[in-house]
Amino acid sequence: MATVKTFKINDEDVSGREDETILQIARENDIFIPTLCNMEGLSSVGSCRLCLVEVKGWTKLATACVTKIQEGMEVYTDSERLREYRRMIVELLFSEGNHICAVCVSNGRCELQDMAQILGMNHLVVPYRRPNLKIDASHERFINDQNRCILCTRCVRVCDEIEGAHTWDVMGRGIEATVITDLNEPWGASQSCTTCGKCVQVCPTGALFEKGKSVAEMSKKREFLPYLTSMRGNGKAK
Ligand code: FES
Repeated sequence: MATVKTFKINDEDVSGREDETILQIARENDIFIPTLCNMEGLSSVGSCRLCLVEVKGWTKLATACVTKIQEGMEVYTDSERLREYRRMIVELLFSEGNHICAVCVSNGRCELQDMAQILGMNHLVVPYRRPNLKIDASHERFINDQNRCILCTRCVRVCDEIEGAHTWDVMGRGIEATVITDLNEPWGASQSCTTCGKCVQVCPTGALFEKGKSVAEMSKKREFLPYLTSMRGNGKAK
């Protein structure tokens, strides 16, 4: 049985099981921590770094989504330093891809766009990289526009952990990293894709979307995720 740990978030006493993360306890207590790669029902990978928090006595910032709680720790989720880092992370994501909201299928329903607004990002201090990445429209129902991908890997995880197909993966490192289907084959030629569309629904931006959607028309439906996760937890589904 997991031990209960008591600690503080923003000077308030909170508690949770030792196997829970700072992010989980913060959410249970209605304390907002921005996230992008994290999604309830999927494993946490700590890739976007947006959920950085300060812990008293720690020299480094901690990623709330993958840091387990500890007895007596003192966590701070909001400070000028954190706000600056988070804004910078979103700026870098915007500069790295081609996030032209005005012509994006997810305009108005994009988590990256939401984060920019929440964190007060209104311009970039770094130059746009303007990549010219491929757009894969070979699938009969979906499109993958790599230029809008922020490498959160939600598509990789939902396909592997929930659908069990593992069609998606990441190829390359650093600035060269990109999500691929199968062995970097066109999505439409994939032997493993079940066309379930879960990857499209969990994508936070307009990188993965349904064919036939125009500007601002792509809304994501994620209700299936908590349901399937709880079924899996009950041993009724894999
Ligand atoms: Fe924690 Fe992305 S939400 S690193």
